[in-house]
Amino acid sequence: MKIMEVEGGHKLSGTIRVSGAKNATVAIIPAAILTDEEVTICNIPEITDTDALCDILHELNVKTSRASGSLVIDAKDMKNTEIAEVHSKKLRASYYFMGALLGRYKKVSMFFPGGCSIGARPIDLHLKGFEALGAKVTKSKNKYTVEADELKGANIYLDIASVGATINIMLAAVLATGTTVIDNVAKEPEIVNVATFLNNMGAKITGAGTSTIKIVGVKKLHKCFHEIIPDRIEAGTYLIIGALCGNPLRIDNIIPEHLDPLISKLEEMGAELEVGTDYVVVNQKDDLKPVTIKTAVYPGFATDLQQPFTVLLTQANGTSKVVETIWENRFMHVPYLNELGADITVKNQTATIQGPSNLVGTQVVATDLRAGAAMVAAALKATGKTTITNAEHILRGYEQIKEKLEAVGAKINLKDI
Ligand code: EPZ
Repeated sequence: MKIMEVEGGHKLSGTIRVSGAKNATVAIIPAAILTDEEVTICNIPEITDTDALCDILHELNVKTSRASGSLVIDAKDMKNTEIAEVHSKKLRASYYFMGALLGRYKKVSMFFPGGCSIGARPIDLHLKGFEALGAKVTKSKNKYTVEADELKGANIYLDIASVGATINIMLAAVLATGTTVIDNVAKEPEIVNVATFLNNMGAKITGAGTSTIKIVGVKKLHKCFHEIIPDRIEAGTYLIIGALCGNPLRIDNIIPEHLDPLISKLEEMGAELEVGTDYVVVNQKDDLKPVTIKTAVYPGFATDLQQPFTVLLTQANGTSKVVETIWENRFMHVPYLNELGADITVKNQTATIQGPSNLVGTQVVATDLRAGAAMVAAALKATGKTTITNAEHILRGYEQIKEKLEAVGAKINLKDI
């Protein structure tokens, strides 16, 4: 287990550069096995989720080499072996190997994926999509086998605009015969980045970023060079930290448009912001107004920013509300924020936050990745020392978080126990 100790109460000044997007990277790495030629991906974040996916590639006899933010993947000698449960359990995104292996070999056998415990996280829509393409799905205990004689293009409607199902069906459909049209897809920027990667490899995908994606199947994909987009959730987390402790804090290498819902809520609160072409500068302010946020699929307010944003709401003057509509178990950070001195109650998927509160350091737990980010934000604001246990969750999605925050004035110690 990793423990993060944060000495709070320091003002943060300087620049934080945002890394490549985790949720694009974790789909693009599995997607790379759709070709037997070498692909080069740059702006890869150095996070433990990247390491976990590279371990799976090695298990499949895929060669990788990593150097200063780039990853070269060569799946020429790949073997379609069953990924060990210990590997697929490490992260949710291991399920993208289902779509990719099905697409390349027409057969895949995989254990249930792991990931943050933020809800039931079914994958019925992924499986329905594979079936619509002609595959047969067999479930036995904790394993799925998906196989097809031939994958054929189909018209697919997603009951929920799921990020994972949209990507997984795209991965299975790029090498299918004929045309696939997926309706009511998710529109997240990470999906557009994955579609661009596949098109760079020779796929024919149009409509990514809208609610309908069309895929004209091709026979073969080829080598390419691709760049991962900046991580809007990492950027948003640091923006929130800037609104809590910035003096001022500049968040660099971002696409501000991807952060519109957060930026407009910060403006509604009266936060002091300067939005540039690829940066935002933010200053801490005392008299913030309370607001209500409701999480929604993109371009709505990102559920992944809800937990860190709740920390900022503890500093607003009055009653704020957070309505979580995507995940049924995403308020696990709340009891720990209350331990730190917040006044938050949760009822029917809505958190009510009474502010402002004085936060005082204590011992808390990073129950999942973004809950962990919320603990870091709260610990930086709190007076005294906060000890965050299970901090390994945070390292799954935030590259060099300790180093980035220390460079702007935070005092953080990270240790293994
Ligand atoms: C992705 O998860 C992200 N993960 C999540 O980020 C993010 O919270 C989520 O999208 C929503 O934006 C990755 O990209 C790896 P969904 P995903 O399928 O794809 C239901 C983080 O912190 N659903 O869009 O798993 C599901 O239960 C992580 O970085 C079904 O019912 O999310 C949920 O209520 C956490 N059946 C809703 O849809 C399905 O087959 C949205 O899930 C699939 C999903």
